[in-house]
Amino acid sequence: MFGRRNEGQPVARKPVAAPPPAAPPAGSAPAAAAPDAQKPAVAKPVAAKPAAAKPTARGSDHRSENYYQIKTTIFNALIDTIDLTQLAQLDAESAREEIRDIVNEILSIKNVVMSISEQEALLQDICNDVLGYGPLEPLLARDDIADIMVNGCERTFIEVNGKVELTNIRFRDNSQLMNICQRIVSQVGRRVDESSPICDARLPDGSRVNVIVPPLAIDGPALTIRKFRRDKLLMQDLVSYNSISQDGADVLGIIGKVRCNVLISGGTGSGKTTLLNCLTGFIEADERVITCEDAAELQLQQPHVVRLETRPPNLEGQGQVTMTELVRNCLRMRPERIIVGEVRGPEAFDLLQAMNTGHDGSMGTLHANSPREALSRLESMITMGGYALPSKTIREMICGSIDVVVQAARLRDGSRRITHITEVLGTEGDVIITQDLFVYEIEGEDETGRIVGKHKSTGIARPSFWDRARYYNQHHALAAALDRAQG
Ligand SMILES: Nc1ncnc2c1ncn2[C@@H]1O[C@H](COP(=O)(O)OP(=O)(O)OP(=O)(O)O)[C@@H](O)[C@H]1O
Ligand SMILES: [Mg+2]
Repeated sequence: MFGRRNEGQPVARKPVAAPPPAAPPAGSAPAAAAPDAQKPAVAKPVAAKPAAAKPTARGSDHRSENYYQIKTTIFNALIDTIDLTQLAQLDAESAREEIRDIVNEILSIKNVVMSISEQEALLQDICNDVLGYGPLEPLLARDDIADIMVNGCERTFIEVNGKVELTNIRFRDNSQLMNICQRIVSQVGRRVDESSPICDARLPDGSRVNVIVPPLAIDGPALTIRKFRRDKLLMQDLVSYNSISQDGADVLGIIGKVRCNVLISGGTGSGKTTLLNCLTGFIEADERVITCEDAAELQLQQPHVVRLETRPPNLEGQGQVTMTELVRNCLRMRPERIIVGEVRGPEAFDLLQAMNTGHDGSMGTLHANSPREALSRLESMITMGGYALPSKTIREMICGSIDVVVQAARLRDGSRRITHITEVLGTEGDVIITQDLFVYEIEGEDETGRIVGKHKSTGIARPSFWDRARYYNQHHALAAALDRAQG
């Protein structure tokens, strides 16, 4: 069979560890297993189903130690039998068939007593180990997970519906986890090991990955995956999740349409990129938009979009292309709007310059906990970028460039809210003056522990971008949305 070592030699002839028949996994009575084994092999693979990965604490792990022991024995026998290089040349379906045949043979030689469904689960696990991302596969197959966080081989957490949960997923050992990390980063031409222990990568589906391994990660490799969401949230979804009120969403839509320069601020995982993506939905189809990101996450629907991505240095430490270089290059590409996925360094200066020089409607996100902090972070990024400008000049530049700051937050109950829509008015002396248009006020908690609150208008009827709104003939809609919000 193709893919096996020692072509032509049946597996049966290989001396595999002698059988004391392995006990069935906990929870399956041996008496029930025997008749099951007679059934035709029609059961469907189960491991990829969400149910198989249902997050539970380790205490209720339905896969016993015994299961892992059997899996290790079978896995080792399989690795002795197959030729991985040949297997890699097969397409996924044939490789799976090949592995299925060999695993079935090994199971019968070793007299392992297992029900058909257990066998299928084992087979699926083994295929995932050999061909895919191992125990991560069932998590990657789920659409409801926002983040996967692997802390060494023993513990894997996921975020579902805003809540972080421990899963029953675990790896055989740290070297299996390390192999999977290696497989992920090698797809983007990188390597992770003791000499280069930190690496960013991307899965083929677009999910963003960070890997940090020993000796920096003390308890084994740490892998963090921000799952890519195919069906990106729209502004209307944010309204239905109560992340923003309908009136607030209308005002945000107008801010997007009338080409205000917007900074979206928020903590890690607070929904900044999602919000940025929603705002880009209000860009007209005929506008030329250029996006710059570290890992392309935005999904703009307009036809006239150029997507750019930064590049980390290669293994020899060369070939890096920074965000600053991308933003600068953008300016030579005749953009109408520039969208920067995340502003974290000296590119802040270039983005502000772009906003100041006729690229109205540019947007970016930034890590900060309040609109005020966002503006001061912007200032420190410029200062740290080596621009020797007096802080008054930098502040004036910020005020001249940014029209609106939108603050996103992940509250303690896991829900995401837009907590501020704030406009930047100007400077008074050395101080930047801002004015909130909408704020989210927390009123308490319901009986399930969910935070209850309201988006409130602060009563401003004529925001400073009023003239701009009139220019784009959106002032009636703006006045109406602000009136409704007050009423
Ligand atoms: N308003 C929302 N309601 C529910 N889920 C949301 C909301 N906004 C974002 N999410 C989900 O939260 C996760 C994180 O969102 P997102 O990537 O936009 O955050 P971020 O602030 O950009 O994170 P990071 O700081 O890591 O870049 C995603 O899975 C996204 O689908
Ligand atoms: Mg983001």
